[in-house]
Amino acid sequence: MSVNKRSKIKKVTTHVLQEMKLHGERIAMITAYDYSMARIIDSTAIDVVLVGDSASNVMAGNESTLPITLDQMIYHARSVVKAITRALIVVDMPFGTYQGNSKEALCSAIRIMKETGAHAVKMEGGSEILESVSRILSAGIPVMGHLGLMPQSIHKFGTYIVRATEEEEANKLLEDADILEKAGCFSIVLEKIPAKLAARVASTVRIPIIGIGAGADVDGQVLVLHDMLGIIQDFSPRFLRRYHNLYEEIKGAVQNYTDDVKSKDFPNEKEQY
Ligand code: KIV
Repeated sequence: MSVNKRSKIKKVTTHVLQEMKLHGERIAMITAYDYSMARIIDSTAIDVVLVGDSASNVMAGNESTLPITLDQMIYHARSVVKAITRALIVVDMPFGTYQGNSKEALCSAIRIMKETGAHAVKMEGGSEILESVSRILSAGIPVMGHLGLMPQSIHKFGTYIVRATEEEEANKLLEDADILEKAGCFSIVLEKIPAKLAARVASTVRIPIIGIGAGADVDGQVLVLHDMLGIIQDFSPRFLRRYHNLYEEIKGAVQNYTDDVKSKDFPNEKEQY
């Protein structure tokens, strides 16, 4: 299929992503958590929308992704699904809903698919969660893996610094990518790892590799919407490119409105009945 035909595709599927990798066409993925933002995103050519558990940080103000619940993820995903018409929608399985036992993992994934209308789930980890990944895949639910920095394991890592810089961890990551591909995952996110290692994974496995802080030689990129729009200001990792400074824009608009109310400038004669 030509690039031109793919860009006119009505709905992005896991097969379309595979085709894009085969043709060297980069995949653009972004997070979304609510209907209004998702509507704006839907008017772009974005390929994948991730209802990330980063909602725990950017929407709920938690310090980590650990507190967000399955019910809360389902709430966010339902809002996003209502707005997205073209992109593939992936929902993060929250911490504690798949690490314990594979039956519970399958029930959690089924709830996400049934109650939201999303197209796939994302799970953090490799060999440790293989049983859960396989059980979910066997129910016909597409799974995106997530390796490298895994924010749900922050208390094991102790820090958000770049992962897999040492040989042992890099080898484990390569093995895990292979395990996830063989299990049947349709794609893997690699977060905050050396660019050379990410490039090696992307050239070794056949499924699309989506990077965040993983360099340019992977099959696609993902950013957290609120970070790239400059709504969140106190998070500035090297990999983040800010496309806007919405914090200042929103602050200015709300301050202007407040000033207008206090000075009795708003509403004026044309703004009343
Ligand atoms: O939850 C999230 O936003 C993510 C991305 C950082 C990939 O998992």
